[in-house]
Amino acid sequence: MASLTIRKLDEALKSQLRLRAARNGRSMEEEIRLILAAAGEETEPPPAALPQPAAAAMTARPQARVLLVISGGIAAYKSLDLIRRLKERGIAVRVVMTQAAQEFVTPLVAGAIAGGHVHTDLFDERTEFDIGHIRLARETDLVVVAPATADLMAKMANGLATDLASTVLLATDRPVLIAPAMNPRMWAHKATQRNLARLVADGTTVVGPNAGEMAERGEAGVGRMAEPLEIAAAVETLLRARGARPLAGKRVLITSGPTHEPIDPVRYIANRSSGKQGHAIARAAVDAGAAVTLVSGPVGLPDPAGANVVHVESARDMLAAVEAALPADVAIFAAAVADWRVEGASAQKLKKTAGGPPALSLAENPDILATIARRKDGRPPLVIGFAAETEQVVAHAKAKLARKRCDWILANDVSAESGVMGGDQNTIHLVSADGVETWPTQTKDEVARMLIERAAAALAAMPGGQP
Ligand code: CTP
Repeated sequence: MASLTIRKLDEALKSQLRLRAARNGRSMEEEIRLILAAAGEETEPPPAALPQPAAAAMTARPQARVLLVISGGIAAYKSLDLIRRLKERGIAVRVVMTQAAQEFVTPLVAGAIAGGHVHTDLFDERTEFDIGHIRLARETDLVVVAPATADLMAKMANGLATDLASTVLLATDRPVLIAPAMNPRMWAHKATQRNLARLVADGTTVVGPNAGEMAERGEAGVGRMAEPLEIAAAVETLLRARGARPLAGKRVLITSGPTHEPIDPVRYIANRSSGKQGHAIARAAVDAGAAVTLVSGPVGLPDPAGANVVHVESARDMLAAVEAALPADVAIFAAAVADWRVEGASAQKLKKTAGGPPALSLAENPDILATIARRKDGRPPLVIGFAAETEQVVAHAKAKLARKRCDWILANDVSAESGVMGGDQNTIHLVSADGVETWPTQTKDEVARMLIERAAAALAAMPGGQP
């Protein structure tokens, strides 16, 4: 049906409803709830019987909140079922709809099922006065985008804020779950895959899309939105992870990125570290409830929300910032610190001379990990290092564990073929006094979450650890 006709029908239905509600002395939302109830559609969770076991656990804590962003795709109709599924689980749902989404589902119906006003406009007086987009973005435990269209994913990946949905997504510091839905060719397009990789690197969780028949006749492939039950399960997993906050009250210190060692005021020695793994660890530690200090070398990444970020350039600055940030319960050294600096770096730009290129003489940098791990006073109870190796990964990592006297080494293969440096995936071998454990290849975010879970468990097992 043409969108104009749908809009006209929507208007006509709204005015009928308005009349009916006024005649019965009820609000529009109340009227819709009654109509849906008469048609056998529940719009409110049954107060006594929450069907899922997780619901009982969740309601013991303050009610979990989800902000659901519905963007414009045929799958938007499934989002109504998603709202019901979330509410069944005792989760409060607030809804934001893009303009295009309103071509498929009306805000009135979504609002009636969610049990509240649906937010559609960035400059909506009602939203701005009674909630505002910043509060919408923050007063939630999780943001869910379902369906996430190629267009909205592109906006998210590039940080555009052109309407209420994209603005809220840029303004939020909460975890984000997206359920992409689009034509298989759009999904497979390099641009969409590039945006997806960027979103994943930024910490976004993705559910689906699934393979199957598309709404367009004759189209099949990967692009169908995940089913509402799958999305609800992913929401529960994320809320549980967030609700647990196993590092609440703990201080976590993390180094990340490369260091730059000056040759003169304009030139420096550096390495290929992107800082992605260290920054992902900082985000995971914040999510686990820790007070996080991230000492970061020069990287092209945003500061993780909720962390105290100290920006440094050289190895010596990094050591000073790390020492200033102590005490800590856990220290994780993910930075690729330059082993050498240029001795007597020039205060002025070096000029080309007839004598040929300058001879650079190198001096050894302090080993930050070893300095902290060997401290007699104020050594963090859990000191974790990384080992970036291009060969004999585990053997070198074992030697580093002994030499630097840290508790764990996370060894990874950084040879060019592994694609780890600058990439989004990592394969870790956890080397400790207990032996070697190889983790499956996973995203740097997943590595970060696993490491933080392990660190929290190890701290809890220490004498005087948390309950
Ligand atoms: N590290 C550090 N300070 C340094 C060098 C390394 O804190 N000056 C830390 C890294 O953050 C990492 C661990 O030590 O956690 C191992 O780093 P890596 O570069 O793998 O090893 P190196 O000690 O530099 O040894 P090599 O270059 O011989 O492999």
